[in-house]
Amino acid sequence: MGPAELAEILAGLDFSTEDENLIIGLENADDAIVYQLNSEQALIQTVDFFTPIVDDPYLFGQISAANSLSDVYAMGGKPFLAMNIVCFPGDLDKNILHEIMQGGLDKAKEAGITISGGHTIEDEEPKYGLVVSGLAHPDDILTNSKAKEGDKLILTKPLGTGIITTAFKADMAEQSPQHPAIKSMLELNKKAALLLQNLSVSACTDITGFGLIGHLEEMLSASNKGCKLWLDKLPYFAEVPELSKAGLVPGGLYRNKDTFSSNVTSFSDVIPFQEDLLYDPQTSGGLLIAMSDSEAKKFVADYNNQKRQDQQPKAAIIGEVTANSGITLKKRESNN
Ligand code: CO
Ligand code: CO
Ligand code: CO
Repeated sequence: MGPAELAEILAGLDFSTEDENLIIGLENADDAIVYQLNSEQALIQTVDFFTPIVDDPYLFGQISAANSLSDVYAMGGKPFLAMNIVCFPGDLDKNILHEIMQGGLDKAKEAGITISGGHTIEDEEPKYGLVVSGLAHPDDILTNSKAKEGDKLILTKPLGTGIITTAFKADMAEQSPQHPAIKSMLELNKKAALLLQNLSVSACTDITGFGLIGHLEEMLSASNKGCKLWLDKLPYFAEVPELSKAGLVPGGLYRNKDTFSSNVTSFSDVIPFQEDLLYDPQTSGGLLIAMSDSEAKKFVADYNNQKRQDQQPKAAIIGEVTANSGITLKKRESNN
């Protein structure tokens, strides 16, 4: 569902609560809700599920599980428990579902968490995801709302998974586990989250369905700030310019653009594929982090050093938080 439709549905529904232990609710479009259990522990809860984005059921299960786990990492938490959510057609080969759930199970193992139980219903199209619970010290919760002027913005994964999975569906790109976009979607945001534990983070979220600009706007509006984005610093998968030129972009990209582009001003020529990158809905995308210049440089150096064997683009500093609102697009060269 598009962000505008969702806002329409939520309007007038009163989710407010007297329960003071709910320390993060819906108000700032954070990645998960957070419930304080005691002075040492806060429970982080999130749920995500969606239709297959790759043909291989085992890969799909792994990607969906990595995507569901991501919200806990984005909140500064450590996931520990998950349940399966499954929709599956009655007339489809049950081995497919077995493979999907094996994918989820293996990803959970990699994350070091337990999956138990869940719920399955019959539906025309398969869907799979997880309900995930995590824990953090209440003081360590990372939210959207504390980005500060002068903070650098970091993105930990390349953009373009929506465009590439659209190309998969059109048989215009090869769906192998070695494809950089699939490798990226399979990757847990755990490493990034672990590194962040030793740094002072102002704000953090993960990039999923609303694209870079949508999730960035959630952070900026919760923090009452704006930002400069450096177009030439955005990390992306090598095939994206060509696929974007061929018009292989998902419908969600246009919905995101309709909803979020009114706050975006450009001060340099935007190449069409760069504009697509900004609004492309991501699956199991990277973390978007706001932190001081020195901490940001330290994070990117340490994180990329861990990933030096990796062929694909690594974490990058993509912009800077400003006091005045709105998102301004620039080239890094012209603005240091
Ligand atoms: Co999220
Ligand atoms: Co989510
Ligand atoms: Co968050």
